[in-house]
Amino acid sequence: MKAILLAGGKGTRLRPLTIHTPKPIVPIFDRPFLHYQLDLLKQVPEIDEVILSLNYQPRRIEEIFGDGRDSGLAIRYVVEPAPLGTAGAVRYAGESLHESVVVFNGDVLTQLDLASVIAMHRERKARATIVLTPVENPSAYGLVETDARGNIQRFLEKPKPDEITSNHINAGIYILEPDTFDRIPKDTAWSIERSFFPSLIERGETFVAHVYDGYWIDIGTPDKYVQVHHDIMDARYKAAPFASAPSAAWVSPQARVEEGAILQGPCFIDEGAVIKSGARIGPYTVIGKQCHVEEQAIVEQSIVWANCRISQDAVVRHTILGRHCHIGRNANLNHGSVLGDKSVVTDYSRV
Ligand code: GDD
Ligand code: MG
Repeated sequence: MKAILLAGGKGTRLRPLTIHTPKPIVPIFDRPFLHYQLDLLKQVPEIDEVILSLNYQPRRIEEIFGDGRDSGLAIRYVVEPAPLGTAGAVRYAGESLHESVVVFNGDVLTQLDLASVIAMHRERKARATIVLTPVENPSAYGLVETDARGNIQRFLEKPKPDEITSNHINAGIYILEPDTFDRIPKDTAWSIERSFFPSLIERGETFVAHVYDGYWIDIGTPDKYVQVHHDIMDARYKAAPFASAPSAAWVSPQARVEEGAILQGPCFIDEGAVIKSGARIGPYTVIGKQCHVEEQAIVEQSIVWANCRISQDAVVRHTILGRHCHIGRNANLNHGSVLGDKSVVTDYSRV
């Protein structure tokens, strides 16, 4: 069985972070995001190959995953000549497939039992099965209505407030039958949510829902990107190194925390980082590889990518910093700043 990961979007809502780092490989702590999805797929022994459907900056992604040897799953890359939309991408990547295929949006993280979804798809002899999950506000997602037997009655992408009739949304995880792909037009952008799924309903095909109410998140906005780190630190989503030690102040053996520096967990200090004496790393903070946090600087509730320097007496709160940023002395960054790679904030600046 093959799995297609849709990982070709531009990640616009995560800009500026995604200008040089496509969304599928934004780091979650020290691992590119897709590793977490591959971990989930690996739990289904039947899945013997993952097809990464790419468009935006494909080389950057290929460089990291190669042929998949290190991830323990064979990986093949299909790069669209132009963005084909979510359905066009599935058709393009699934051209040679003849058996049921698992499809994942490349930005969702979950602890779903995928094998049970596949089993249900087979039991119901479905033409398509989609995973639904409850959310408070469906407006940023695809709203799905079902009948009592879990047959999908309506699929409405990005509903307006007065169209919200259910709190169940499309979790971006599907089991599909490739013989339905011929109704996706070739070589044009086509949406699985706005066109393909509604077409299954119109034709009365067996199109069923698998409701999952465990951990699920789409990491596609800065708030959600930060949230997923909190969830891992608090062990709501179980992943190393916090699964066994939630709320810990985790320091890589290759990092250097000077005497007199203060670490307040949960936090994560990656390899090669240096935390100088008198600096304070507050809760819910990630300090990336080779970063320097100088004397008396304070960093809290923030995610700092690799190779940044936070100078003496600077304060960085509720902020995301891309790679190679330089925060000058006494600078003050607060609530909700997201700075792209190589940003420079001069001494005493306030953001
Ligand atoms: N290959 C390829 N080509 N991939 C694409 C393209 C494309 O043209 N366009 C989008 N993708 C990928 C994105 O990289 C992402 O992994 C996935 O498809 C979904 O796109 P998003 O842009 O993240 O969509 P969304 O979050 O607004 O909505 C989707 O996900 C929600 C769940 O998180 C929809 O599927 C909603 O119905 C769903 O509720
Ligand atoms: Mg998304």
